[in-house]
Amino acid sequence: MSKTVLITGCSSGFGKLAAKTFQAKGWNVIATMRSPQKETELTQLENIWVTRLDVTDQASIDATVQQGIEKYGAIDVLVNNAGYGGHAMLEQFTDEQTLAMFETNVFGLMRCCRAVLPHMRQRRNGSIINVTSMAGYLGLPLSSTYSASKYAVEGFTQALAHEYKPFNVKIRAIAPGAFGTNFSANTDNNFENGDDETRAFAQKVGAHFQALAQQMREQGGEVADPQEVADLIYTCATVNEMPVHNVVGADAKMLLGMKNSMNQQEFIDQMEAMLIPN
Ligand SMILES: NC(=O)c1ccc[n+]([C@@H]2O[C@H](COP(=O)([O-])OP(=O)(O)OC[C@H]3O[C@@H](n4cnc5c(N)ncnc54)[C@H](OP(=O)(O)O)[C@@H]3O)[C@@H](O)[C@H]2O)c1
Repeated sequence: MSKTVLITGCSSGFGKLAAKTFQAKGWNVIATMRSPQKETELTQLENIWVTRLDVTDQASIDATVQQGIEKYGAIDVLVNNAGYGGHAMLEQFTDEQTLAMFETNVFGLMRCCRAVLPHMRQRRNGSIINVTSMAGYLGLPLSSTYSASKYAVEGFTQALAHEYKPFNVKIRAIAPGAFGTNFSANTDNNFENGDDETRAFAQKVGAHFQALAQQMREQGGEVADPQEVADLIYTCATVNEMPVHNVVGADAKMLLGMKNSMNQQEFIDQMEAMLIPN
């Protein structure tokens, strides 16, 4: 019998690619998104049920999980992919914007876990895969709010992995580097907020980042293929021995390799020299 995966945030990016990857491997896919009425591609594929789930709306999560189990008999894997970024200094984010990011990236993800865990625990079978970020390992300037949300999920994942191992429910995190999805377009940038000094500093750091990215492109840095992330999600769902924490993308592997090769303060000093313009 085919297995079933529920994926959040399937309207674009990693979520959509993951839905197509599982479908191509013969899985039943519950491809969830906030606006399913707009979807034209996944709805054409067999064994994909496109349905509305907003991770900030508990009723939509409960209804999807209940109907998914009725429809397919079980949910074997949950992929918590829905999320968005934010670039600006902390002072440029309002409290509402900060809470909104945590509502989606952290509390929404926790809600989805809470909704499927009784089912997985009782079956003594299941996997949850949380899409985090390299920002969940590194504090980058202009990413304090986003980084805090992704660090939270990395810690949550590790704790949950311990809690549910005795029940044969596997919990994993995948931390991507930078990939060309709709992520940048959906990022909550607040460079216009704040006082003159804050705005000027944020713009200067932002411009420096862009110059660094351009320099890396000119040095022949490969364009990262988001399918790599979808493939790793599938591997985490199907290979028993995968670690709790997984990193994907040449940039993330390079920076985390650096982080692991030196003491914490040395790493922070090197990052500062690279990321903060004079
Ligand atoms: N691309 C990168 O460079 C990168 C790097 C590291 C980590 N990530 C992480 O990867 C995940 C997927 O991002 P992506 O790169 O694929 O970007 P994306 O193309 O913007 O996809 C994000 C998805 O999340 C959905 N979403 C946002 N808020 C939601 C909510 N409240 N409920 C349900 N769905 C919601 C979006 O739906 P709508 O269409 O309704 O907005 C969209 O489907 C995110 O968690 C992101 O933080 C991305």
